[in-house]
Amino acid sequence: MASSERVAVVTGASRGIGEQIARVLHRDGAKILGIDVPQAASELQAVTRELDGDHLTLDITTKDAPQRIARFVKETYGGVDVVVHNAGITRDKRLMNMKRDTFASAIAVNLTAPERITAELLKQKLVNENGRIIGVASIAGIAGNMGQTNYAASKAGVIGFVDSLADELEHGITVNAVAPGFIETKMTAAVPFATREVGRRLNALSQGGLPVDVAETVAFFASPAAAGVNGNVVRVCGQSLLGA
Ligand SMILES: NC(=O)c1ccc[n+]([C@@H]2O[C@H](COP(=O)([O-])OP(=O)(O)OC[C@H]3O[C@@H](n4cnc5c(N)ncnc54)[C@H](O)[C@@H]3O)[C@@H](O)[C@H]2O)c1
Repeated sequence: MASSERVAVVTGASRGIGEQIARVLHRDGAKILGIDVPQAASELQAVTRELDGDHLTLDITTKDAPQRIARFVKETYGGVDVVVHNAGITRDKRLMNMKRDTFASAIAVNLTAPERITAELLKQKLVNENGRIIGVASIAGIAGNMGQTNYAASKAGVIGFVDSLADELEHGITVNAVAPGFIETKMTAAVPFATREVGRRLNALSQGGLPVDVAETVAFFASPAAAGVNGNVVRVCGQSLLGA
């Protein structure tokens, strides 16, 4: 690693929005540490190999995940400049049909894991001066979405977390979030056809967004130009009417 190179950790980096975030941050000069579940190991390795980066396969909800990430960062780079909490899941059901575990799993991946990883990195003073912590929320966390009480609650939690943490950070470290609308990935490919078409078209641009649209907004938060931007949430949704 070149000594001036910034280090960026991206969770859920094997595909979709996370993969694009890794690619765009690498384009902007960062060394990438991509993280994803063991089942996605080969895709993750293919991405990070292409970007001359590193990879760590783990489930971010496991008890020791924050410590394992912190140890890898400390031993490999000494610290991290950009942390992007991108990994996320949907488990859609109306609340009356939702199992406790289904609600809890969305909260665990989308909200508790980013909180625990952030806390561990800050506690161990591994976020470098002028570091950037970036959450991936959703417009569902701003205005809700039917069948997504668990997902929307977790993403609203990300927004509240970012708003509050911004006041606590020192040494030029900032925290912000993006709130994507409908973005064309495997996550939205799993949505039933009619709902997918509504999500895709009901916005000012009449089309679904691309992972790179979200990645470029993350790259702005990570850039020197965003030094004065802290505790903000930017919607990347083309003025979506769903969740507006
Ligand atoms: N696609 C959209 O329309 C959309 C809209 C709003 C927000 N988002 C958010 O953007 C992020 C990326 O979404 P995507 O569409 O690329 O989804 P995706 O399902 O294509 O990718 C998510 C990635 O996260 C990883 N992941 C899931 N659980 C994990 C865990 N426990 N530990 C480690 N990695 C884990 C998956 O393996 C996968 O690689 C998510 O947080 C999602 O909620 C997506």
